[in-house]
Amino acid sequence: METKELIVERKGAVAVLTLNRPEVLNALSDSLVEAVVSEMERLDKEEGVRAVVLTGGSKVFAAGADIKGMADATSQEMQKSDRLAKWERMRKISKPIVAAVSGFALGGGCEMAMSCDMIVASENAVFGQPEILIGVIPGAGGTQRLTRAIGKYRAMEFVLSGRRFSAQQALEWGLVNHVVPNELVVEEAVSLAEEIASRPPIAVRLAKEAVNWAVDVELGEGLVKERQHFYKLFDTEDQKEGMKAFLEKRKPVFKGK
Ligand code: HXC
Repeated sequence: METKELIVERKGAVAVLTLNRPEVLNALSDSLVEAVVSEMERLDKEEGVRAVVLTGGSKVFAAGADIKGMADATSQEMQKSDRLAKWERMRKISKPIVAAVSGFALGGGCEMAMSCDMIVASENAVFGQPEILIGVIPGAGGTQRLTRAIGKYRAMEFVLSGRRFSAQQALEWGLVNHVVPNELVVEEAVSLAEEIASRPPIAVRLAKEAVNWAVDVELGEGLVKERQHFYKLFDTEDQKEGMKAFLEKRKPVFKGK
C-alpha cells in the first residue's frame, strides 16, 4: 500500500519501505502505521520478495507516534479505538525485516525499530523512550522489548527518565547489529537483507520463528519447537539441494520449495 507517507521500492528480492513525513520527523500517524503494517502483510505474501528493509531515510527514522493525533484524546477514546492493536500485526510477519535507523528513533519510532528483526544504525542515530516527558509511557512494546534487549536496569533508566542513548551505546548493549556511517545505513541494511534473501526461504522463515521463541517462551518449550522445525526442513527440496551441493563442492540453487 504505497502512499505519499510511505515509499515502497524493490531491490531484487528485497523490498525497501521508507517512512516519508519529513516535515514532522516521520511522526507515526495512524495512517502511516496502517500503511507500514498492511504493506508488510502484502509483501509477506508476494513470492518474489524474500526480505524487507524499513527506514526513514538518511535524516530521521521516526520521532514517535504523532502527538498531534492524540493530544486531546480521553482514555476511553484511546481504549475504544485501540489504535495500537495494529502494531501487533507486525509480529505475524514471517519474512525477515531489517530496520535502517538514522537520526531520531524515539518513542513509537524506537518501538517500530524494535519491532523489526535486526537493526542497522547510523553513527548519528539516537534512541529513546521519551514518553514519560509528555505524561505517558511506551504503548507499542517499548517497555517489553527494550527491557528484553538491553536488560532491566538500563531499560528502567531510559523509560523512567526519558533520557536518550546513542547508536554506540545501543551497539554495546546489543540493541543494534551494526553502526555504519550515515550515508551507508540503507545500503548496509539492504546488503544484509540481500544476503538473507539468498538463503533458502523456508529455512529462513522457520529460523526467524525459532529465534523469536527464545524470547517468547520458556527454554524447554523453545528447544522442543526448534527441534520440530529442524526435522520439518528435511521435507524441503532446498535441504536436499543445500546438502547435496555442499558434498558436490558447488553453490546451491535454492527454489523456496
Ligand atoms: C508530532 C512531531 C513529533 C511527534 C516532531 N514533530 N516530533 N509532531 N508528533 N512525535 C514535529 C514538530 O512539532 C515540528 O513541527 C517538526 O516535527 C520538527 O520538530 P522540532 O521539534 O522542531 O525539531 P527539533 O528541534 O530538531 O527536535 C527534534 C525532537 C523533537 C527532539 C525529536 O521534535 C521531539 O522531542 N519530538 C517528540 C519526541 C517524542 O516525545 N516522541 C514520543 C511521542 S509519544 P513544526 O510544525 O513545529 O515544524 C509516542 C507514544 C508511542 O511515541 C505509543 C505507541 C505508538
